[in-house]
Amino acid sequence: MNLFDVYPLNNIEITKASGSNVWDAEGEQYLDLYGGHAVISIGHTHPHYVARLTEQLDKVGFYSNSVKIPLQVQLAEKLGQVSGKADYQLFLCNSGAEANENALKLASFYNGRKKVIAFKGAFHGRTSLAVSATDNPKIIAPINETDNIIFLPHDDEAALTQAFESYGNEITAVIIEGIQGVGGIKEASVSFLKLIRSLCDQYNAVYIADSVQCGYGRTGKFYSHDYAGVDADVYTMAKGMGNGFPVAGISIAPKFKPWHGMLGTTFGGNHLACAAALAVLEVIEQDNLMKNAEEIGTYLITELKKIEAVKEVRGRGLMIGIDLPQTLSNVKKDLLFKHKIFTGEAKPNVIRLLPALNLTKDHADQFLNEFKKALKG
Ligand SMILES: Cc1ncc(COP(=O)(O)O)c(C=O)c1O
Repeated sequence: MNLFDVYPLNNIEITKASGSNVWDAEGEQYLDLYGGHAVISIGHTHPHYVARLTEQLDKVGFYSNSVKIPLQVQLAEKLGQVSGKADYQLFLCNSGAEANENALKLASFYNGRKKVIAFKGAFHGRTSLAVSATDNPKIIAPINETDNIIFLPHDDEAALTQAFESYGNEITAVIIEGIQGVGGIKEASVSFLKLIRSLCDQYNAVYIADSVQCGYGRTGKFYSHDYAGVDADVYTMAKGMGNGFPVAGISIAPKFKPWHGMLGTTFGGNHLACAAALAVLEVIEQDNLMKNAEEIGTYLITELKKIEAVKEVRGRGLMIGIDLPQTLSNVKKDLLFKHKIFTGEAKPNVIRLLPALNLTKDHADQFLNEFKKALKG
């Protein structure tokens, strides 16, 4: 049997990982500023994480949501506390797409409506509703095409106001990333997020904050949307939540009332997933990682802005986009193969930095030195 060949792969096999470093099968060391796409939040093989998962595996790895799982309650309490939303409710699932899918369903159950506002450049996942709300026709199958999604220009207050004036009573939800990831590290402005909040209030629509990539402390606040000083109704999260263990969730405002059977999943919230998510939150809290993300991120952004060859530096904390001119389209590959640094990318020529939140200043300096060398070719 062959693998279904959907991924363009780098010819590297990772066989060992620790903190912000990984090693390939030949023993070559790399600096990891990608974290497997914003997933490694507390560093590879963090000792507390390994111990908690191993202990849990020795007790019980999985049981479904047909029995009490006190670890879920502990996780909800911890998440409520660390995210500053103690009165919200937690539904656990397995991936970012599934989190957004459930958030959109929840919105539609809540107000009985069908239309969703999403934005140009958005990426919300590959399941049916999530992919329909994703601005990439190439990955939308004919069966996912729907008139229920209204795509608006990103951060355009006039267009948003106009859409609500035209369809207000049909709109179930507005879904927006605090900082677009796949779209090239583009932050929604404070005034735009405030306007979403007030229009959703006015029209009884649901404000869904897709925090799958920009959340979980990466920007220095638990949810990057919260820089706007207004609460979303639903926050979706995944990537950094389990430091590599597949776990996702939605944090749901108190006004939503659950009923049995409303949402569900076989694997979501299993014992191992909860242990992984708890270990991550414990490390984020104990090691003050949100502060570190903000400080090291600000340092990196400041230093990167000084480099003349760079067109623009965008982002916040440890979610950084380095926009390069097309003449420097070799830099991303050179960083990996010549300078042994993993980074992410976005089109047309943006390097994305999504490292672990405990990245050190030495790591940041190592990157800056190698990046400057890579720019020279
Ligand atoms: C903002 C955002 N939402 C949703 C998703 C989908 O997450 P997953 O791949 O876990 O389904 C992604 C993945 O890149 C993402 O960046």
